Amino acid sequence: MKKIAVFASGNGSNFQAIIDVVTSGELAAEISVLICDKPGAYAVERANEAGIPSFVFQAKVYPSKEEYEEAILKELNKYDVDFIVLAGYMRLIGTTLLSAYQGRIVNIHPSLLPAFPGKDAIGQALAAKAKWSGVTIHYVDEGMDTGPIIIQERVKLEDNETRETLQKKIQQIEHKLYPEVLQMLLTQGDVIYVTKARAN
Ligand code: GAR
Repeated sequence: MKKIAVFASGNGSNFQAIIDVVTSGELAAEISVLICDKPGAYAVERANEAGIPSFVFQAKVYPSKEEYEEAILKELNKYDVDFIVLAGYMRLIGTTLLSAYQGRIVNIHPSLLPAFPGKDAIGQALAAKAKWSGVTIHYVDEGMDTGPIIIQERVKLEDNETRETLQKKIQQIEHKLYPEVLQMLLTQGDVIYVTKARAN
């Protein structure tokens, strides 16, 4: 069974969705460790609740990104982690982790990439008065949300759409889609890129 590390910076609702499917047996993986970059993030409480070891690494404590990521890598090695799952981790992955986990880091992003990369994708979609947005799961490379896309699912924006309503719709999709894709990635090995159409 593959051992995964989840990286999160905030609430951790995607982390929770992954915990839930591992607990129910729908996802055949072991969550070895949570890596967090924000002290006090709710994701850490979720890890405690689920009995998953968690480590908070604050980037500003380290002289360089390399040293920050080397400290994380040391922990991942201790737990023999096979695969990194970014779930609301709001930091670019650097060369240290990328070269150690080449092709084995995935991210979820709340837009149809390449539209609205980076921070506050939901706010960006609203500001642009987009008719459609959605969710993208992709492999991570050195760019900002630029890695090869594995799957996307779209969401229609209504005329009266607000940040709250759009976030809710997007997160509902995320919590279903990420476990499905992880199951595929972790049990079938290398992945054929897929685009999926589900009726919204
Ligand atoms: C999720 O919507 C995720 O797609 C987004 O942060 C949110 C985290 O929510 N990620 C990014 O924007 C990455 N660029 P969560 O902490 O409740 O899982």
